[in-house]
Amino acid sequence: MNFHIMTLFPEMIKQGLETSILGRAVSGGYISIDAVNIRDYTVDKHKKVDDYTYGGGAGMLMQAQPIYDCYKAIEEKINGTENKKTKVIYVTPQGKVFNQQIAIELAKEDDLIFLCGHYEGVDERVLEEIVTDYISIGDYVLTGGELPAMVMIDAISRLVPGVLNNSDSAETESFQDGLLEYPQYSRPEEWMGKKVPEILLSGNHAKVDEWRLEQSKLRTMERRPDLYEKWVLEHPVVEKKKRRKK
Ligand code: ADE
Repeated sequence: MNFHIMTLFPEMIKQGLETSILGRAVSGGYISIDAVNIRDYTVDKHKKVDDYTYGGGAGMLMQAQPIYDCYKAIEEKINGTENKKTKVIYVTPQGKVFNQQIAIELAKEDDLIFLCGHYEGVDERVLEEIVTDYISIGDYVLTGGELPAMVMIDAISRLVPGVLNNSDSAETESFQDGLLEYPQYSRPEEWMGKKVPEILLSGNHAKVDEWRLEQSKLRTMERRPDLYEKWVLEHPVVEKKKRRKK
């Protein structure tokens, strides 16, 4: 999977994404991260990429031309002369809120282009021309789009086959099945007077799985009642059967 990021701060993206697990995924050829400097595409002789807003208002706006030319260069690199359209994600608080389901959908693409805004935003005309998806990472405002793009790229990358060592772990973690992850314990068996739950030492895998599902449900109910409600609606048979047994 190839990520192409249009940004004014390519170093930020490279430093943020080329360490740890994603660094290994890049070296292993499972993903590639191409941070492209929008400034390299400006035709302004002073290398300017922003200007004042028509109609007045505070702050500067990123201009259409450098972004459009940067996009065209990336699109050509990906698709050559083929008339294919790669998804272009503009990270913005005005977008739909990112979640695991969106990450799963986006992980199916071969290439993704991200546009990171700065200053007071981007000239609307270039957004209309190139953007396919407007995505936010939450209801708060950051200084630029680099961190949100990195958050999304991290969440998407770990779903790409080969990126995580243990193929199981992408599936059992929080959200993948709509519930939060159960509590986990490592050695020692007792720490600060707190013991590891007996069932986890029993070696009975079926019982352990049952306990973990129960814990996931309890935790989700307590910490994210909104997610729990949704999960119950999506698993009505299991829940009804259990209630009948009681
Ligand atoms: N840019 C600034 N704030 C943002 C947010 N919350 N999500 C995505 N992009 C942003």
